[in-house]
Amino acid sequence: MIDPTALRRALGNFATGVTIITTRGRTGAPVGLTANSFNSVSLNPPLVLWSLANSALSLADFKVAEYWAVHVLTADQTELSSRFARRGGDKFHALDIEVGLGDVPLLTGCAARFQCRTVSRHEGGDHVIFIGEVLAFDSSGSAPLVFHGGRYAHATPRDLVDRKPRTGHLAGSFSDEFLGYLLGRSHFCFFSQLRPCLEQAQLDDMMFYVLSTLTLRPRWASEDLAEGVPGVLNERRMQALEALIDRGLACAEGPGSEYALTPAGRDLALSLIATAKSIESQVLDELGHSDAVVLKSMLNRLLQIVDRRSGQLPWPDEAPTNGTSG
Ligand SMILES: Cc1cc2nc3c(=O)[nH]c(=O)nc-3n(C[C@H](O)[C@H](O)[C@H](O)COP(=O)(O)O)c2cc1C
Repeated sequence: MIDPTALRRALGNFATGVTIITTRGRTGAPVGLTANSFNSVSLNPPLVLWSLANSALSLADFKVAEYWAVHVLTADQTELSSRFARRGGDKFHALDIEVGLGDVPLLTGCAARFQCRTVSRHEGGDHVIFIGEVLAFDSSGSAPLVFHGGRYAHATPRDLVDRKPRTGHLAGSFSDEFLGYLLGRSHFCFFSQLRPCLEQAQLDDMMFYVLSTLTLRPRWASEDLAEGVPGVLNERRMQALEALIDRGLACAEGPGSEYALTPAGRDLALSLIATAKSIESQVLDELGHSDAVVLKSMLNRLLQIVDRRSGQLPWPDEAPTNGTSG
């Protein structure tokens, strides 16, 4: 006997895109749902399919619909996907809608759209399979949303990711794959265009780190600043802060010693941040929107791990045992 829950989990190993299928309902209201059962069937004639649960509220409308449209969602359309995965209700409220063939409501900003006419419907267990002929389509080529293991995921082209940087002599060495090296080298090279500006302003990396963090709030208590500049020893952070105060770029205020930028410090910080942002946009343009989103979300995930561990030396798992404790 097949366990449906286990089967669903096993099927989840098959990564898919995510679509929203829309049609015009029997009352004239727009109807739609999120579906990942979409697939191509044939190029000539151009046919596609998807399947709809017998329990879906929209089934009665799709069963009589002559036209429907498939919208392939982009990586940043997870909210839209969740909205159309809800049962019933006005899923189209306040959305930008275009009108397609057969008066079918069309969503905008998708990776691709296929406007279809129903060719056939087939009973398929607890689902109905719809086969449609593609009458019109458009595609933006935007990065697609992926569904895998019951969760949304990102797609990243492997040929680009697997390409190694130009350091033949490192091939196969410890540095080649070492995360610390990759992060350190990326950081160093990323800021290479900014470094001359820092040098001109007589700031080292740590002073810039503290200076740019101070822009985030009008005033910082010392312990909050420790959280704002994580992963840095207290002593180094305070040295950088004191150097900024000596230079007239920051000041200590009030009896509880709160720290703030001076107007000169704020001006300098904002101009350096603008330069850093322009370096970022050049790099991200080359990386592409989708990979930039993936990279930033992975780095944020990494930060959650290393931030939690920083300041706890030795790290809990590696704490040396003296052989006497149980
Ligand atoms: C990523 C994802 C994929 C889905 N794929 C399908 C599908 O292919 N067929 C289906 O019937 N329901 C699918 N669903 C569930 C429907 O979107 C959900 O049951 C929805 O409430 C149906 O809307 P309705 O009851 O208003 O018709 C999927 C949901 C998600 C989040």
